Amino acid sequence: MESVSHEHRKFPPASAFVKRAHISGEDAYKALYSKSIQDPETFWAEAAEDLHWFNKWDSVLDTSDAPFFKWFDGSRTNLSYNCLDRHIEAGKGDKIAIHWEGEPGDTRDISYAQLHLEVCRFANAMKARGVKKGERVAIYLPMVPELAISVLACARIGAVHTVIFAGFSADSIRDRVLDSETRMVITGDGGYRRGKMLELKKIVDEGVADCACVKDVIVVKRGDDHPVDCPMQAGRDAWYHDLVADVSDVCPAEEMEAEDLLFLLYTSGTTGKPKGIMHTTAGYQVYSYLTSKYIFDLKNDDVYWCTADVGWITGHTYIVYGIMQNGVSQVIYEGAPNHPDEGRFWEIIEKYKVSIFYTAPTAIRAFMKWGDNWVTNKDLSSLRLLGTVGEPINPEAWIWYHKMIGSERCPIVDTWWQTETGGHMLTPMPGATATKPGCATVPFFGVEPVILTDEGEEVEAGILAIKKPWPGMLRGIYGDPQRYQDTYWCKWDGKYYFPGDGARRDEDGYIWILGRVDDVVNVSGHRIGTAELESVFVEHQDVAESAVVGIPHEIKGQGLIAFVTVIDGRAHDEPLRQELISMIDKGIGKFARPERILFSSDLPKTRSGKIMRRLLRDIAEGKELGNTTTLADPSVVEELQKQYLKA
Ligand code: WTA
Repeated sequence: MESVSHEHRKFPPASAFVKRAHISGEDAYKALYSKSIQDPETFWAEAAEDLHWFNKWDSVLDTSDAPFFKWFDGSRTNLSYNCLDRHIEAGKGDKIAIHWEGEPGDTRDISYAQLHLEVCRFANAMKARGVKKGERVAIYLPMVPELAISVLACARIGAVHTVIFAGFSADSIRDRVLDSETRMVITGDGGYRRGKMLELKKIVDEGVADCACVKDVIVVKRGDDHPVDCPMQAGRDAWYHDLVADVSDVCPAEEMEAEDLLFLLYTSGTTGKPKGIMHTTAGYQVYSYLTSKYIFDLKNDDVYWCTADVGWITGHTYIVYGIMQNGVSQVIYEGAPNHPDEGRFWEIIEKYKVSIFYTAPTAIRAFMKWGDNWVTNKDLSSLRLLGTVGEPINPEAWIWYHKMIGSERCPIVDTWWQTETGGHMLTPMPGATATKPGCATVPFFGVEPVILTDEGEEVEAGILAIKKPWPGMLRGIYGDPQRYQDTYWCKWDGKYYFPGDGARRDEDGYIWILGRVDDVVNVSGHRIGTAELESVFVEHQDVAESAVVGIPHEIKGQGLIAFVTVIDGRAHDEPLRQELISMIDKGIGKFARPERILFSSDLPKTRSGKIMRRLLRDIAEGKELGNTTTLADPSVVEELQKQYLKA
C-alpha cells in the first residue's frame, strides 16, 4: 500500500491511439460519462440498440423491488444469438472466432459459422438428453473449444451454466452441484497442464458419486494421443463426440426473458460456504458487450487474447460473452505460460499477431522473474493495448509491462471489477485516460463510485461503495436472497453496493484500490475466503481451532498463512502438516494451499474470546507487534512469533 501512495507518474495515451479510439480523448469520456450518470436509461437503451432483441424492453431500469433491480424488463433476447447468429447475418460467418492452441501445440481455427454450428449441435444433444430451460448444467473442462461451446449451448437453450474451474477438488464440485441442483455435468477425460494430463473425469466421478440430481455426465475427449483411463458409467455417462454425431445443425435460440437466469458462478466470501452468484440475461448482455467494446477498444481487425480461465468471471465476460458479442477474433490457449518454456505467451502473440492482451498481475510478476530474454527475441509489434485484472498491480510490474511488453506505446487498462459486478467498473478508458502505474483510475459509464467510512461519510481513503445499480450487477445469491441483501446492501442501509475493497481517491480524482477489507484473500488472482480453509482444517480430528490470514507475496500478490491449534498429545510435526495440506487439496483444490502452517497450543484472543487476526497478520508479516495488552494470554503471541522466525 505504501508503494502506491508515492506513485505520481502519469502516462497519457499516445496520440495515434487516441485518434482511432472509440472514446477519443478525455473530453469525450467526460461528456459520455456525465450523460450516463444523468440519464442512465437513455444511455443504456442506446447501447442496447446495437444488439439483437426478439422483443424490446418496456423499461430500462426498474428499482421498485431494490436491491432486486430489473434491467430491460419486458424484453426477450438470447446471448448466444448475439454472440453468433448476429455476425453470420452480417456476413461475417467466415471470420475466425477462435484461434485455439493446445498446450502440446495442436491447433484449431474456428470461424463464427463453425462455432454456431457446433453450438447448435451440442445444444440439440443436450436437449435430446432432456435438459430444459432453467435447469442447471455444471461445466468442468480444461480450456478447450468445447468449454466455450458448452457455455454458449447452455445460453442457447436457456439452461443455466455453472462453470467450475478445473483446479477445484471433488469436494468443491460436490458442494456446487448440490447447491445448484445440477442435472448435467460436462467434463473431459483430461486436459494438459505443464506437459501432464490432468484426469478430470475421475475427479468428477468422485464429486458427483452421491449427487442424485446429476442425471448425465458428458465427456469431451482430449486424450487422443494420450490414453486416459476414463471409465464410463452406463446410463449416466456419454461421450460428447458421440452425442453430436447424429443431431441436427439447426437449433433456434430460445427467447429468454430479461431477468431469466443466465449463469451461476460460485465465489468466495467471508464464510466457509461459497456463494452462487446469479447473473441474468439482458443487463449482463448489454454490460458485457459495452465494457468489452470500449475498454478493449475493439475493432474488426483486432486479435484479442485473454489468458484467464473460463472457470472465473474474467473468462465468462471477457472470453465468451463480451468479446464474442463484439465479433472479433481471439486466441484461446489451453496450458501453462512456461510450457515448454517461459517464452510461450510471447510466441503465441507473435504467431497470431495478437493486438490486445489481457492478463493478471501475478503472471506479469512471474515473467519479470523469468527474465527479459524470453521477451526480447519475440516480435510483439502487433500489440496495441494491454490490460490487467484480478488484483492490484504493483507499480514496478506495471512499468515492466509498459516497457517490455507494450514498448511504451500501448495503453494499459488496469480493470477493477468482481464476479458480482459482471464487468469492468473502474478502469482507464484506453483512448482517453492518462494512466498511473497501479491505479484503476476512473469509473466506467453508469458507475458512480464513492469512498466511505463505516458510518457512510465520504472520505478520501476508506471503503469503496457504488451508488447506482448498473446493468451487469449480480441479481442475487442462489437460494439465499437474504445473504445477498446482508452481504452487499446492508452496510449502508441499502443505499450503496458494498464490494469489500478499500480505496483511496487522489488529487486527480482517480481511485486506487487498496485491497480487501474483509477476510477474502487474493492468491494469484484466485479469490479465497480464509474461512473456507479454516473450516477444512477443523474437520481434522486433532485440530482444535485455526485462523488463516493473507500476507503480501512477491509473485502471487498474496499468500496464505495458517495458524492451527492442535489437541494435546498430537505432535506438531511434518506428518500432521502433510495431512492438513492434503485436506486442503481435497476440500478446495491445490491452488488454495497455504504458504506455511504454524502450530501452537492456543491462538491470540481477546478476553472475550475473539481471535485477534491483526496480531496474526503482524506475526506473519514479521512486523513489530502492536498493542497486546487486551490479550487474554500475551505469552501465546510470543510463542507464535518465535516459531515463525525460527522456521
Ligand atoms: C480484486 C475478478 C485491484 C478486488 C475480476 C476484487 C482488483 C476482487 C482488481 C474480485 C484490480 C480485481 N485492482 N484489485 N484491477 N481486479 N481485484 O470476483 O479485491 O475473482 O474485489 O473478480 O479482486 O475478484 P473476482
